[in-house]
Amino acid sequence: MYKPIPFLDLSLIPKEIQMVLGKKFDIMLENGIFSGGEEVALFEQNLITYLGARYAIACANGTDALEVALRALKIGPRDEVIVPALTWVSTAEAVILVGAKPVFVDTDQSGLMDLNLMEELITPHTKAIIPVHLYGKMVDMHKLMTWASQKRIYVIEDNAQGFGAIQNGKRAGNWGDIGCFSFYPTKNLGAIGEAGGITTNHEKLANRIKKWINHGQSTRDHHELVGKNSRIDTIQAGFLNVMFGHYDSFQKKRKELAKIYLKQLKGIGDLNLPIGLLDTSHNCHLFVVQTGYRDGLKSFLMEKEIGTAIHYPGIIPKMRPYFSETQFPVSEKMTQTVLSLPLNPYMDKSQILRVCKAIREFYSKTS
Ligand SMILES: Cc1ncc(COP(=O)(O)O)c(C=O)c1O
Repeated sequence: MYKPIPFLDLSLIPKEIQMVLGKKFDIMLENGIFSGGEEVALFEQNLITYLGARYAIACANGTDALEVALRALKIGPRDEVIVPALTWVSTAEAVILVGAKPVFVDTDQSGLMDLNLMEELITPHTKAIIPVHLYGKMVDMHKLMTWASQKRIYVIEDNAQGFGAIQNGKRAGNWGDIGCFSFYPTKNLGAIGEAGGITTNHEKLANRIKKWINHGQSTRDHHELVGKNSRIDTIQAGFLNVMFGHYDSFQKKRKELAKIYLKQLKGIGDLNLPIGLLDTSHNCHLFVVQTGYRDGLKSFLMEKEIGTAIHYPGIIPKMRPYFSETQFPVSEKMTQTVLSLPLNPYMDKSQILRVCKAIREFYSKTS
């Protein structure tokens, strides 16, 4: 009998890493420092080194990172911010939280904001654009940055999903004025709870962000602005510092497994495979196929105890709090066709082959 293949099971973190984590937790308990401290400083330094950014500020989660980025750039009421129609809700949510208006743009076939549609969305109120490196695939940042600098608008990268991806030698999150990261447990670099980060190469912005996430303080009890508490927990930073040490080897594994999917699933039925997954500008966060038989395939795989997910079943501008009359045909169609197959470093080749076999079986009965 085969064991089920879950979409992602974080209890499968290898035992040797769990032991190192256990020791790290013991040390943290002994030290008695549960907010800030050395682990947080080390995590920020790890981000700086890995991403090549001048400043990195760890924070409570990726949604706060986006909100604080917008606030640091003084974006608020009467301002407009361009965001993709297909993304996790936080991208648009953060814009509303600061009192600004999200202006949605349709995506291309791979779910990235369509850069050819941007021109018609610009108004005198447009202050910023938030590209999302959806599924781990980078938006064409050279093209976007050139356009944004001509229009004099800020670029905030929502890099919740693209950690580590690299384009023209520069990491995702390090192209725009500010880069925002989520270290939610399911991300390629995930914490043991909620965590996020913000990067920038501008000193003034970095100082403002540091104050924003810490009640407006630059030094204790000196509140220079009205901020919030979005500090990261020490335990999250400690966990992430350990996981950082395994990041590159986990990425290698993801790419190897993705390569098997690409080979095995080529030319099956109407299945559209993700493009650019093996390029450095993709971090293989999700393996998203597209098919007109999505719901049937999902149910069939579920019967075989193979977990899948849908990213995402609805576009943001069709949800009540964000409603827009505009049509977004490409991203709307994607909500009907996308299916994320299990892909994570805790899987092995035989499991990937089993998923592929099940998909072939589905198509032999379907089309
Ligand atoms: C594209 C995108 N933006 C923002 C976020 C928000 O991150 P968090 O869950 O850490 O608040 C996520 C998290 O799933 C995301 O996928």
